[in-house]
Amino acid sequence: MCAAPNPPMAMLAELTHRCPLACPYCSNPTELAAKETELSTETWADVFRQAADLGVLQLHLSGGEPASRSDLVELVIAAREAGLYTNLITSGIGLNERRLRALDDAGLDHVQLSLQGITAEMADRIGGYTGGFKRKMHVAELIDQIGFPLTLNAVMHRENLDDLPATIEMALRLNARRIEIACVQFQGWALTNRAALQPRAEQVVEAKRTVAEAVERLRGQLVIDFVPPDYYSDYPKACMNGWGSTGLNVSPDGTVLPCHAAAIIPGLEFDQVQARPLRDIWYDGPAFNAFRGTDWMPELCQGCERRDIDFGGCRCQAMAILGDATAPDPVCRKSPGRATLDALLAEDRQGVEAPEYVYRR
Ligand code: SF4
Ligand code: FES
Repeated sequence: MCAAPNPPMAMLAELTHRCPLACPYCSNPTELAAKETELSTETWADVFRQAADLGVLQLHLSGGEPASRSDLVELVIAAREAGLYTNLITSGIGLNERRLRALDDAGLDHVQLSLQGITAEMADRIGGYTGGFKRKMHVAELIDQIGFPLTLNAVMHRENLDDLPATIEMALRLNARRIEIACVQFQGWALTNRAALQPRAEQVVEAKRTVAEAVERLRGQLVIDFVPPDYYSDYPKACMNGWGSTGLNVSPDGTVLPCHAAAIIPGLEFDQVQARPLRDIWYDGPAFNAFRGTDWMPELCQGCERRDIDFGGCRCQAMAILGDATAPDPVCRKSPGRATLDALLAEDRQGVEAPEYVYRR
C-alpha cells in the first residue's frame, strides 16, 4: 500500500492556449482549448487560494501565451494575495513597458522568457511569427531594467542546437540569472514534428561538451540547467518527479491534470476545479492515483534499483510510443520498448537539414 501523498509544491496554471506564436514543439495538446472555455478571473483567483491552502508554494503562470489574457495583472495580484511565489512563463509577445511595470507593482516574482533562436531569421521561422524576435529582445531589455529575475528558456532541437554556445552567450548579455537548455521533449505538437526536431548524434555529443564546459566557466555567474535529448539517454527522466508527487497542472478550461500531457492517456478520469475542491482532486482524484507511488509499476520497474530515482519514467511517453501507459518508459535500456524507440530514432536520423514544420495553429 502506498503512503499518503505529500501536498504539491508547484502548480502550473495554463491560463490560456491562445498564443501569437506557433512553435512546432509546443507542449500544449493538439486539441487546443477555445477562448470561450477559459476560466474567469474570479475562478482562477479561487483556484490560487485553494492551491495555497493545499500547500502549493510556487505558481507557474503559463499558456499558450499568458500575456494573451487581458486580466494577467489581476491574476498575479490574486496569486500574490494567496501567498504564492509567481513565475511568468512567456514568449514576451503581448508585453510592453506599461504591462511589465504593472506586473512588477502586482508583485510578480520571476520571469521565464522563451527563446526560439539567436537570430531574427531563425527565431521567427521557428516561432512562425515575423517580428517576434525583435519584440522579444525589447521585452528582455525591459525585464532587465525593471529588475525581474530572469530565466531564459531555450528550447533546442536539430535546427538550433549548433547555436548552443551563442545561446549561452545571449543569456549572459540579457543578464539572465539562469538558462534552461531544454532539448525538445516529444509530447504534444513536438511529437507530430519529431522527425524534423530530433537532433543528430554528433550534435548531442557536442551539446553535452558545451554544457559541461560552460557550467564550469560560468559558475557563480549563470546557472545552467540542461534537459538532454530523451531518445539519446539510457534511462528515462523522473517525469514530474513521479506522478502525483510534487506538482499539478490546471488547463485553461479548469481540467486538473497530473502532467501537461496526461489527457492523451485513454481511460483516465479528470476532475475540474469548477466541480470539485482542489484538495480532493489532489488526494482522491482518480487520475492522480492512477500512477502514484510504486504499486502500479510493471515487474521490471518494481525490481529495479532506479525505481525511486526515475519512477519508471514518463507515462505519457510510454503511451505515445508503445500505446501502453503502464509500460516502463521506452527510453529505458532495460525495457523491451527500447527497440521501438531505437527504430524511431533511426528513422529520425535520416531527416533533412531544413525540415518543414507542422506549426501549432
Ligand atoms: Fe526506470 Fe523502470 Fe527502467 Fe528501472 S526499469 S530504469 S525504474 S524505467
Ligand atoms: Fe505525462 Fe511525463 S508528460 S508523465
